[in-house]
Amino acid sequence: MKLIFLGPPGAGKGTLAAKVVDIIKVPHISTGNIFRSAIAAKTPLGLKVKSIIDSGRLVDDETTIALVRERLGQDDAASGYILDGFPRTIAQALALADFSEVDKVVNFDIPDAGVIERLGGRQTCRECGTNFHLVFGRPKQEGVCDTCGGELYTRDDDREDAIRRRLEVYREQTAPLIDHYRKQGLLVDIDARPDAGEVVAIFRKNLGL
Ligand code: AP5
Ligand code: MG
Repeated sequence: MKLIFLGPPGAGKGTLAAKVVDIIKVPHISTGNIFRSAIAAKTPLGLKVKSIIDSGRLVDDETTIALVRERLGQDDAASGYILDGFPRTIAQALALADFSEVDKVVNFDIPDAGVIERLGGRQTCRECGTNFHLVFGRPKQEGVCDTCGGELYTRDDDREDAIRRRLEVYREQTAPLIDHYRKQGLLVDIDARPDAGEVVAIFRKNLGL
């Protein structure tokens, strides 16, 4: 199954994708995670995108499309994937349509107040990217990832000014994808406000899984 996870920052795309891959057994491909790994490893890509990501703006389409095209060409993505955080612009969606055909676009809907509450308390694992939350999803041991034992940190783009910028960017450049995919009959709307277990249950029901 080939899925796109669409939604504002903090909607829970990464958290939900990590749970859903246990159900549908496809790779979870997050462009944000790929960029953050490149930044941590100080690769040429990481050095190029660090200041853009920290400020909450989008990496340019050309770079992002090339990265996803290459990743979807790998064997493990041949029969399915969850694309989390891509496409984020109409240009990216048009490019994707040239190299892969998606089955459904899952739109996680949450108001701004919910975004701010979730991003405010988020903690992310430096090693594997798993997300925790100081209120909604605490790790078993403070500061330590339940999945891999890695160190938890607060993302540089979870500062108040960067969150505001990411919401603006989402509204201007990414939200138009909702209509784009609705017109193609691919959109599945999911209320992302309930707790993560409930959102997974809604997801399964709405996708008939
Ligand atoms: P990216 O990493 O994709 O960030 P984002 O879209 O801003 O989304 P987030 O990862 O912040 O939120 P999420 O929806 O995954 O929520 P999460 O599950 O963590 O992108 C980062 C940057 O990379 C971009 O700003 C851009 O610069 C660049 N980039 C990436 N893709 C790009 C592209 N295609 N083109 C150009 N540039 C690109 O959940 C948030 C918190 O809430 C967590 O703490 C979690 O524990 C908690 N939580 C989750 N679900 C629930 C729930 N149901 N109930 C309670 N708490 C919950
Ligand atoms: Mg994410």
